[in-house]
Amino acid sequence: MPSLKKNGNSERVLPKHIAIIMDGNGRWAKKRHLPRTAGHAAGSKTFKDIARYCNKIGIEYLTVYAFSTENWKRPQQEINNIMNILRDYLKDTENFKGENIKLEFIGDRTPLDDDIKVLMQKAEKDSENATGLHLNIALNYGGRDEIVHAVKDIINEGIKPEEITEQLISDHLYTSGQPDPDFIIRPSGEYRLSNYLIWQSAYAEYWFSDILWPDFNYKHLEKALDDFNKRNRRYGGI
Ligand code: FPP
Repeated sequence: MPSLKKNGNSERVLPKHIAIIMDGNGRWAKKRHLPRTAGHAAGSKTFKDIARYCNKIGIEYLTVYAFSTENWKRPQQEINNIMNILRDYLKDTENFKGENIKLEFIGDRTPLDDDIKVLMQKAEKDSENATGLHLNIALNYGGRDEIVHAVKDIINEGIKPEEITEQLISDHLYTSGQPDPDFIIRPSGEYRLSNYLIWQSAYAEYWFSDILWPDFNYKHLEKALDDFNKRNRRYGGI
């Protein structure tokens, strides 16, 4: 359920869990005759700004799509670049100082470099008691892959068919224990879910826009939240 939050004099409905597909970095760079790496660097800055903003206005959960199970098909240099951006982000304590953000990674960590796995674990441990925004970074994440892992775990645990419920499946996903995303944002003019949180998004509202992710800012997020608010007002009444 969305939560009611004070907004000036009136109350507005805020989504509890926002999920964002950070798309358009490559096109943003191309428009400027820059390498794709510059697009990812700019996208990473937007990510930090938006995570801070979500924390500030009281969003409880934010999940961002940083690297999909399909992204391994990209040139090795681009993969290295995205992983290096992630390394830098995790190593820079300035990103977390005073933020009270709880960080969690969702996705299959198996093929990731060992040093990144260590950094991810450390960031999760260091922030485990934070009470502000719960920030999920989806890394080597794929919705179908997540369901395959869940099914394998359920079988390995010896759970009987008659014990399988929707809740039990939810409890075996990477997002176990978290509310489903109620608002999914995809900038950059694409109208697809791209294997993102496919189980969890069954009842989510969607918001699409032509803005490329590096150009996305808090004003766009505010516009999206206004739209979410209207949709909920329309359907929430009796
Ligand atoms: C999609 O745009 C973007 C990605 C696959 C990478 C997103 C990664 C970041 C923004 C960096 C994340 C960093 C942290 C610290 C979480 P695209 O490259 O597919 O753009 P295009 O469709 O215009 O080519």
